[in-house]
Amino acid sequence: MTSLDPILKVSNLSVEFPTDDGIVKAVRGVSFEVRPRDVLGIVGESGCGKSVTAMAVMGLLPRTARVTGSIRFRDDELVGLKPKEMRAYRGQKIAMVFQDPMTALNPVYKVGWQLAEAVRAHEDLTRKQARARSIELLHTVGIPQAESRVDSYPHEFSGGMRQRAMIAMAIANNPDVLIADEPTTALDVTVQAQILEMLINLKDHLNAAIILITHDLGVVAGITDRMQVMYAGKVVETGTADDIFYSPRMPYSIGLLGSLPSHAGSQERLKPISGAPPSLINLPAGCPFSPRCPLADDVCESVEPPQVVVSDGHVSACHHVEALNAMADPLKLFEEVAT
Ligand SMILES: Nc1ncnc2c1ncn2[C@@H]1O[C@H](COP(=O)(O)OP(=O)(O)OP(=O)(O)O)[C@@H](O)[C@H]1O
Ligand SMILES: [Mg+2]
Repeated sequence: MTSLDPILKVSNLSVEFPTDDGIVKAVRGVSFEVRPRDVLGIVGESGCGKSVTAMAVMGLLPRTARVTGSIRFRDDELVGLKPKEMRAYRGQKIAMVFQDPMTALNPVYKVGWQLAEAVRAHEDLTRKQARARSIELLHTVGIPQAESRVDSYPHEFSGGMRQRAMIAMAIANNPDVLIADEPTTALDVTVQAQILEMLINLKDHLNAAIILITHDLGVVAGITDRMQVMYAGKVVETGTADDIFYSPRMPYSIGLLGSLPSHAGSQERLKPISGAPPSLINLPAGCPFSPRCPLADDVCESVEPPQVVVSDGHVSACHHVEALNAMADPLKLFEEVAT
């Protein structure tokens, strides 16, 4: 295996949850891969399957979930592993930063103690060595006065520091893949930017791949190499950050871009796309975005679009890629239709 081989390769991943109301098709045929030091952004509105995808990779879905497809870590298949077998990967090789820091930090223990335990779970270190490593980790994630902060309780940290401590927990065992699920949504914009910058710097420090999950395209702008836009459990567009930002070929991506201040022009901030994503139980035939799409026609309403190659590495699930190619400024799609 060379350094160019993917460390994590997800192929045709689907996740279904049987419920009393029917089967929730939360993830439908998602594929992606990351190599060391890649930064992949996964974006999409609430409920589109971002976290379920991440939890599938982490092996943290409830037992009732039906997972199909493949999740390979280097040469190892993770789908179908027993919970005990999965422990060799989770935390150690693939780690995750969760949205709410208090879900992973225990309020009754000092931050340093929790970090030391995370390190000692996989490495045979004395308490003293583990404490030194905790201080080093806090330092790595940019917590000032790490030597004294190591003895603080989580509530003595600011929101931003707690999030940094969470990241320290996640990198305690030098993972090869770090999944950050909306790691900064609860923080103010300046702190968000600082933490994301630190996270991105970590990839070189760890030689790890980072998967950054967010509903906000603005968050991933400028920091991801590749992006994956999800809608109703599916990847509807994938490409480089430039492909998605400057030449989007899926109306849903265009709608997401339209709600960014930079794309909407300096004065006005466009409204989010109107309407809501469909229910994931009994999904209608056709393109799931068609009820909200200005380009939708009869074909869109009856046939779910295949993945169309726009250019090398840029793929869109839209019947109207050609029409978008022909438009002078596809970014104005929603405006033109509105006026
Ligand atoms: N255990 C479960 N049982 C049934 N449905 C579930 C379960 N977990 C998630 N879902 C459903 O799967 C869909 C995808 O959820 P997911 O948490 O992945 O969304 P998301 O993209 O992460 O959204 P958000 O931006 O709000 O975090 C949602 O419709 C959700 O209600
Ligand atoms: Mg989520």
